[in-house]
Amino acid sequence: MIEYKKNVYVFDHPLIQHKLTLIRDKNTGSKEFRELVEEIAMLMAYEVTRNLPLKEVEIETPVGIAKCKVISGRKLAIVPILRAGLGMVDGLLRLIPAAKVGHIGLYRDPQTLKPVEYYCKLPQDVHERDIIVLDPMLATGGSASAAFDYIKKYNPQSLKLMCLIAAPEGIERLTTDHPDVEVYCAAVDEKLNDHGYIVPGLGDAGDRLFGTK
Ligand code: URA
Repeated sequence: MIEYKKNVYVFDHPLIQHKLTLIRDKNTGSKEFRELVEEIAMLMAYEVTRNLPLKEVEIETPVGIAKCKVISGRKLAIVPILRAGLGMVDGLLRLIPAAKVGHIGLYRDPQTLKPVEYYCKLPQDVHERDIIVLDPMLATGGSASAAFDYIKKYNPQSLKLMCLIAAPEGIERLTTDHPDVEVYCAAVDEKLNDHGYIVPGLGDAGDRLFGTK
């Protein structure tokens, strides 16, 4: 894992990089794209949960008593930003099946150009949980920043963003608006184009996940 800047980390694991290359390819179809996004999210979850605290327990094996470790009491919630964030949910749940799942849907008001929440449902004990927000593409950073504005009203324990590809512009915006949020991604690309797409990126993650284009 490489520290890109304070609180921003890039996963350089060969499996993550290999799979990321496959999903960037415009010839990769929706089925494979979905499977790969889920796998990358699972591999990233492995790293993101590296510092979860452990406690010691004793269990009886068929042969004797073993002093072992289990994850101690931290509660997690994962919160995909609709709709592309949904593609990462199952990958995390495979490793953290007890995590609760919230959802945040945002659209950009055509008049004010500000993000507006159209659907938000979070676990009712958010204040006791560590939150991992999911959005495959950190482009302008507008949606992610608005999602954290919203979640912070509920005083969660900690906040992380997991994305696949980030633009420098999005990282700048998010780390300025929310310097306390840890950002994890698999690549930092070159720039945004005039339509707000990440270059070279992978295109529209939602369309590619759900076959809507
Ligand atoms: N959202 C996407 O799906 N792709 C981009 O490149 C930027 C935002």
